[in-house]
Amino acid sequence: MFDRIAPVYDAMNRVMTAGLDLRWRRIAAEAVVRPGDRVLDACCGTGDLAVAARKAGGTVTGIDFSPRMLERARRKDPAVEWVEGDLLSLPFDDGSFDAATVGFGVRNVADLGLALRELRRVLAAGGQVAILEITTPKGVLAPFYRLWFDRIVPLLGKLLKGGSAYSYLPASVRRFPGPEDLAAVMREAGFDGVGWRTFAGGIVALHTGGKP
Ligand SMILES: C[S@@+](CC[C@H](N)C(=O)[O-])C[C@H]1O[C@@H](n2cnc3c(N)ncnc32)[C@H](O)[C@@H]1O
Repeated sequence: MFDRIAPVYDAMNRVMTAGLDLRWRRIAAEAVVRPGDRVLDACCGTGDLAVAARKAGGTVTGIDFSPRMLERARRKDPAVEWVEGDLLSLPFDDGSFDAATVGFGVRNVADLGLALRELRRVLAAGGQVAILEITTPKGVLAPFYRLWFDRIVPLLGKLLKGGSAYSYLPASVRRFPGPEDLAAVMREAGFDGVGWRTFAGGIVALHTGGKP
């Protein structure tokens, strides 16, 4: 599916978020990356969060299992090391990184707990993780969000070549834990100091935590 949407992925992000997605990725990267850090960006896709982590001063490795997504990432930034591989079985030694980021990725994995434990394993003690994900807002924005996400985004996807996979998006967000539950799963996976903030009226959440 991700191979199929690769050609329209960046354009859909800009349209769906009115360009705000780049700002969210910059804030996510700056929340956990310090200059000189070794950084892993998992589920890197076309590479925008990995590039943000490099701009924050990190030496960055991006990993994704979709060759077509990686092809685009490689063209975007040759200074990042791009690796084809699975977040659920990371091909890195324990403690290899000082920071890890995942943007709009953990929602898609088959085993969220395992994904978080893998991220924790490859972090050095004191390493920080940032997880950026779509979430479901409560309150006044909720009906607008449902109209946008459940109806308009899948329709926009259908208009673009390869974009029909965007019909999966609303369902994947609905079955993903809300911010409090995701924080609990992060704690269970062994992260401490877990906190989060939301953007755009609660449409996107940024969780951070550390490896003790
Ligand atoms: C919605 S895209 C996010 C891309 C990018 N992080 C961003 O911020 O735009 C999700 C990506 O996760 C990748 N992915 C999903 N499950 C994965 C897994 N188990 N291991 C590696 N990559 C995975 C997909 O191939 C896809 O490129």
